Parts: sequence; structure tokens; C-alpha cells
Amino acid sequence: MNAAATPLLEVEDLVVGYRLPAPRGAAARHARVLDGVTLELQAGCSLGVVGESGSGKSTLAAALARLPQSGLSILGGRIRFDGLSLLELSEARMRALRGSKIATILQDPLHSLNPLLTVGTQIAETPMVHERISRMQAWARARDLLAAVRIANPAARVHEHPHQLSGGMRQRVAGAIALACAPRLLIADEPTTALDPTVQVQYLQLLQELQREHGFALILITHDLSVVARVCDQVAVMYGGRVVEAGPTAAVLREPAHPYTQALLASLPTATGVAGALPVIPGQPPEPSAPPGGCAFHPRCPRVMPRCRSERPPDTVPGPGRTSACWLGVPGAQEP
Ligand SMILES: Nc1ncnc2c1ncn2[C@@H]1O[C@H](COP(=O)(O)OP(=O)(O)OP(=O)(O)O)[C@@H](O)[C@H]1O
Ligand SMILES: [Mg+2]
Repeated sequence: MNAAATPLLEVEDLVVGYRLPAPRGAAARHARVLDGVTLELQAGCSLGVVGESGSGKSTLAAALARLPQSGLSILGGRIRFDGLSLLELSEARMRALRGSKIATILQDPLHSLNPLLTVGTQIAETPMVHERISRMQAWARARDLLAAVRIANPAARVHEHPHQLSGGMRQRVAGAIALACAPRLLIADEPTTALDPTVQVQYLQLLQELQREHGFALILITHDLSVVARVCDQVAVMYGGRVVEAGPTAAVLREPAHPYTQALLASLPTATGVAGALPVIPGQPPEPSAPPGGCAFHPRCPRVMPRCRSERPPDTVPGPGRTSACWLGVPGAQEP
């Protein structure tokens, strides 16, 4: 087998849900927040995950790292990472993996950083626990990492607390913590949403530079297709807890196959608009507790056909390395 062709991460039919209230004695039923997500990522590559609010992006990020999510449970599917079957690992082994090969940067650095500890302590903690290096070595690493995320005067900043830093610096510190153990996969969930536009651009450039220098694979979750266009080799478009379209970013954005991707692109701000604005597509995204039958996008789809209301579309292949879950790609599907 050609090892280079084996993806670093393979997600197959991942289902995550929460339990719906049911009368006593009735069988348990679950609402599916992720409803059969399938995707893959090669080592060192970058995947952008886009979709409207509520489409399941953060749930996917948390499920991939098996972060505890209150009320949500993984109901099925497989996650293979670097030869390991993640859903079969014990919590202890998973914790070790989270401190070494899989790192996460979450949306709001104020919540992910501890306000009581200096940034140096927070960066040094992970390598001290997982690599058993000395405190002095770990602090030297913390200073190096602050420099790596382009924080000026790291020897002084390493002794400061999160409230002494700007929002952009705090997000850089979150990046330094994520890099502390040289991860193979970095999952960044809307890492720039809390930052102002100029700082957003700088942070994304930094992420790209770090990826080139450190060679990790990146999953970048964002509302903003223009960010994906700039940063990511691959894109996965989520709708209603599923990946409705995926493939090489350039090909998908040049010629989107799925009507939802087409709508997202059509709602992108024009050259005179504000980058990062939320796309506006008429209608509401589905509720996981009451998903529409057939294709989840059918109530909002401008090209809906009778079959879309009752039958879930299969994954079709609109081009090399691409998928689109839409009946439009199935020859003869127009006939009822
Ligand atoms: N613990 C929970 N219990 C019930 N429903 C939940 C829970 N967590 C998330 N959900 C639901 O799951 C769906 C997906 O949520 P998720 O946070 O993954 O979306 P998202 O794509 O990250 O949205 P955003 O862009 O707003 O961050 C939403 O409908 C949300 O209400
Ligand atoms: Mg989210």
C-alpha cells in the first residue's frame, strides 16, 4: 500500500446527537446534530469547513478531538487518525493524543485561556505533562513559541496574564498553546471571529506560515468562503449536519455543484462589500429535532424536484476528488 496516499484523517458516517424527551418506557430517540459526516484529510493539507450557523461545524470539531460536549453523544461512525481508531480509544489515551498529535484552537480565546495563570505557564503545561521535559526547558519552549506566533518581546510577555494582552495577542497565545507539542492535526474553530478585520487577515497569514513551517494538517472552520479560498486546499460545505459538497477548493468555488454551495457563493459580498459578512439565503436552516425529509436543503432549494422531498440524495461525483450530495447530479433523477 502506498503510505503517502493514506489520509491522516478519515471520517466515515459520523453521527452525533442528543436525546429527545420521551414518555417513560418509550424507546430513546435522538436528534442528529451530525447526520452521517464523511470526509478525509491528507497529512500537511488544509481543509476548510463552511456552513451557516447551526450546521454542525463546532460539533464536528469537538467530535474529532472527542472533546466532551454537554448533552451530545457520538452515536455512530468511524474516525481514523494516523492509524488509530479514535472512537475506540480510552479517554486516557485520547487525552494524551489531544496533548500531542491533535490540537484545537477555539472561537473565543478568553474562554480557552485561564485568566489566573501567566501565558508562559499555560504554554509550558502541555509539553511538561506530555513530554516530561523540565520546567526550564518548557519555559524556554514557551518563549520560542510566543516568538513563533510573532508576539514581540516574548521574554516579558511570557510572564503576563491573558487580560494584559489584546484580543489578537490572546488568539496568538492560543495558537502557541496548540503548537506546543508539534501537532499533526490542528483544528481551528472560527479562530478569527472575535478579531477585527485587519487582525483577522494577519492571523490567517500567521496560520498559513505556521502550517508551512511546522507541516501540520489544518481544519479551519469558518463562516467565510473567502477565507477558505485564501487558506485551504480542500473545502467541505456543511448543511443540516451533513457534508453536502466537498473537494479541492479552487474547483468547488469555480464551479459549485450543490445548490447550497451555489447560494453561499452568490451571497458572498462583492468587491465593494465587507469581507466576512454572513451569507443571507432565504429561509431557515433545519432544526436537528425536526429535520425535513429527503434532502435537508429542499425547503430552501431553488432547484427542488419532487424526489428531493422524499429521498435523501446520494453522493455524486461532479469532478476529480469531488462529491456533491444532490439529485441534480444523478442522471434521470428529474423523472419522478
Ligand atoms: N448540547 C446540545 N444539545 C442540543 N442541541 C445542541 C447541543 N449542541 C449543539 N446543538 C445543536 O446542534 C446544531 C449544531 O450546532 P453547532 O454549534 O455545531 O453549529 P455551528 O455550525 O458550529 O454553528 P455556529 O456557526 O453558530 O458556530 C445546532 O442546531 C445546535 O442548536
Ligand atoms: Mg460553531
